[in-house]
Parts: sequence; C-alpha cells; structure tokens
Amino acid sequence: MRVIIRDSARDCSSWVAGYVAYRIKKAAPTAKKPFVLGLPTGSTSLGIYKELIKLYQQKRVSFEHIVTFNMDEYVGLSPEDKNSYHYFMSENFFSYINIHPKNIHILNGMTKDYAAECENYEKTIKAYGGIDLMLGGVGSDGHIAFNEPFSSLNSRTRIKTLAPSTIKDNSRFFDNDIRKVPTQALTIGVGTIMDADEVIITATGSGKAEAIRQGIEGCVNHIWTITALQQHPHGIIVCDREAAAKLSPATVEYFQGIENRLS
Ligand code: GLP
Repeated sequence: MRVIIRDSARDCSSWVAGYVAYRIKKAAPTAKKPFVLGLPTGSTSLGIYKELIKLYQQKRVSFEHIVTFNMDEYVGLSPEDKNSYHYFMSENFFSYINIHPKNIHILNGMTKDYAAECENYEKTIKAYGGIDLMLGGVGSDGHIAFNEPFSSLNSRTRIKTLAPSTIKDNSRFFDNDIRKVPTQALTIGVGTIMDADEVIITATGSGKAEAIRQGIEGCVNHIWTITALQQHPHGIIVCDREAAAKLSPATVEYFQGIENRLS
C-alpha cells in the first residue's frame, strides 16, 4: 500500500487529479482500447473533479477515450433527482469534459430488477477488460462505495441496505432529515473494487481519521471494509493531515520517508 499525506484537502485533490491525468496519458487510450475509470461521488470527490476539469481546460488531459463506471446509486432516485448520483456526476463533472455519453455507466436505482441490473453491470465492466483505475472515498464508518460494515470482502455489485451511520452522515444532502435519505442503494462490491488494476481512496477531514487508522493500521476485516485495500497489490490512500491524525507517528514517518525518497 502507498500512503500519501498532504497538508490540505485541496492538496489531496490536486495530487489525485494529477495522478489520474498521468495514468491516462501513460495508457494512451484509443477508441479500441479505452482507459476505464471507476468513479465515486460525495464531497471528497468534488475537489478532485474540479481539478480534473481544470486539467481538461488546460488541455493536459482528454476524456475522449475514457469509459467510466460509477460506484453506486441510491435506490428509488431518478437521474433528475438532485440527490441522485446521476445528477451529481452530470452537474459536477461530466457536463464539463469531453466524455462521450455512451461511455458513462451508472447503476440504475429505478430498475425493477435489481439482480439483473447488478449482474449486467459486472458483465459490462468485464467486457471492457476491467477497471484500470478506481477512485473512491470512504465513509466515517470505513465503508467504500456503499459496502457498509459487515459486507463480504468478496462481494460483487448488489443491492445494499444502508447503515444508520451512513444515513446520518448523508442526511446533510437531504435537508438534514434522515427520513428523506433512501435506505437502500445499488453498489459495486468490495470484490469489484479489488479487481481494479489500481485503487485510490481519498479521505479528508477529522471525521475520517478513525477510518484511515483502521484502513492502514488495523487488521483486514469486514467491519471496516476499507481494510480490504491492504490485500490489493496497487492500493493508494491519499489523506490530509486531519484524516491522518490518528495514525501513529511511526506510520506517518515511514510513509513520508518513502514519498520523500520518490520525489
Ligand atoms: C457515500 C458514498 C461513498 C463515499 C462516502 C463518503 O456514502 N457512497 O462512495 O465515499 O459517501 O462521502 P464524503 O466524501 O461526502 O464524505
């Protein structure tokens, strides 16, 4: 695992966006061999999308041959609903870049057949040869995508009931009213995330400090699903000082020492 610690949330966003642009450039994608990106939603991702839009406007990255798969979507919210992840992605990222709409994939939370929708999502990812680079955030309870505590670390795309902690955290987008937050979501599994060639999880703010401590220093377990990243051959955690606050000084020194030698 690689751990990047930056002073601020903004620094984390520009590191991740720069890395995405570098990866895309290195892959030199074409229509026949596109670069496949896994994408998150949530406030942490907002800064990353802003930086990526900037890089696109500066012509330092193109999304012409990029295929995307979003991690999750609430059950029962239509793409027009302001709280749906379809809406979030269009408003905050897709409408500003040169991505082809046919290359965008987001789970349909309005489907009548959840099992078929999820199975088809997995099949489509496979048909593209898998995800090259998966970006993600983490919940305060350590969840990645909507893989809530006690999710199987081998889980695939499926319908999931949201944990009370997630409903509480996400109620800030729903007028702070937990009754308005959907109770279920469609989400890619921990196993789906682990299949990606490379995974970057970004965490900022003190609310994520325990999740980051568990993810880096804890044992692999299904309560803090972020810990699955320890088993990934190319996992990267990017966090700011606040999110890194619960790491032991020795851990911070170790990872910073490596990064200093790399730069
Ligand atoms: C939601 C999403 C996750 C995201 C998490 C943290 O629950 N399903 O993918 O990582 O929120 O979001 P934020 O960045 O807003 O803290």
